Amino acid sequence: MNYENILISIEEKVATVTINRPTKLNALNKATISDLGKAVKLLGKNEDVRVIIITGSGEKAFVAGADISEFANYTVVEGAQLAAEGQETLFDYIQDLKKPVIAAVNGFALGGGLELAMACHFRVASDNAKMGLPEVSLGLIPGYGGTQRLPQLVGKGRAMEMIMTAAMISAEEAKEYGLVNYVVPQAELLTFTNVIAQKIIKNAPFAITKAIKAINANYTDGKNGFDTEIKSFGKCFGTQDFKEGTTAFLEKRKAEFTGK
Ligand code: COA
Repeated sequence: MNYENILISIEEKVATVTINRPTKLNALNKATISDLGKAVKLLGKNEDVRVIIITGSGEKAFVAGADISEFANYTVVEGAQLAAEGQETLFDYIQDLKKPVIAAVNGFALGGGLELAMACHFRVASDNAKMGLPEVSLGLIPGYGGTQRLPQLVGKGRAMEMIMTAAMISAEEAKEYGLVNYVVPQAELLTFTNVIAQKIIKNAPFAITKAIKAINANYTDGKNGFDTEIKSFGKCFGTQDFKEGTTAFLEKRKAEFTGK
């Protein structure tokens, strides 16, 4: 598939998706959101891919937000539609993907950019990264899940402050807040993130999928995370990978998982 605004490379079962509009600091216009949504869907089904990394092109920005030039004239109805479509086709879709998605935040992650990073399962940042939800400075609020996912990650008080002040925080502050798991020099960001991806790949894919589902259940209306965990835990017992994992342990060898 040909994409207008993203690049994809697949190596050692890790797909790296690079948002590629550097002259606009990788701002998410409709075409980019559509490209990303389609790519994540296809990579989610691709058996050669076990982990997806999302990053931005250039050294300055991960994503500097939704493309302001596209929605500057929107009406109330169009605004709500923009948020609903984006959440459904991309942000929630990434959150619920059966494979791990890691954001490698290589610079500005603002507005929709931080929301994209927060929809990923976890985040690694380069030391030059700056993060914030500046929507109120434009007369808006975050529309791609930011008011929900930021408090989940950093706590209500910090989220309130970040959203109300529209201020940016540094990578180190983001780590202290729990918004990113690691801060590394920019030149090492993708290598470092790939090392984490390879650690994940050593483990049983079905179990990883069920872990994502059970963790997300806690944050989903109408779902009981403990119940989801019980059902998912049970299902793991029906897999070949469970037999392989436990047998390998007892035989004191490394498990060879097949995803079955
Ligand atoms: N939407 C559309 N275009 C954007 C953009 C966005 N969110 N963020 C940056 N760009 C564009 C700029 O308009 C500029 O385009 P131009 O060269 O055609 O004029 C280009 O990207 C470079 O940005 P510029 O502002 O010149 O870079 P800077 O280094 O001076 O500032 C930022 C960087 C990130 C501080 C600044 O671009 C910014 O504040 N962006 C908007 C952030 C935002 O409010 N995001 C939330 C949107 S909901």
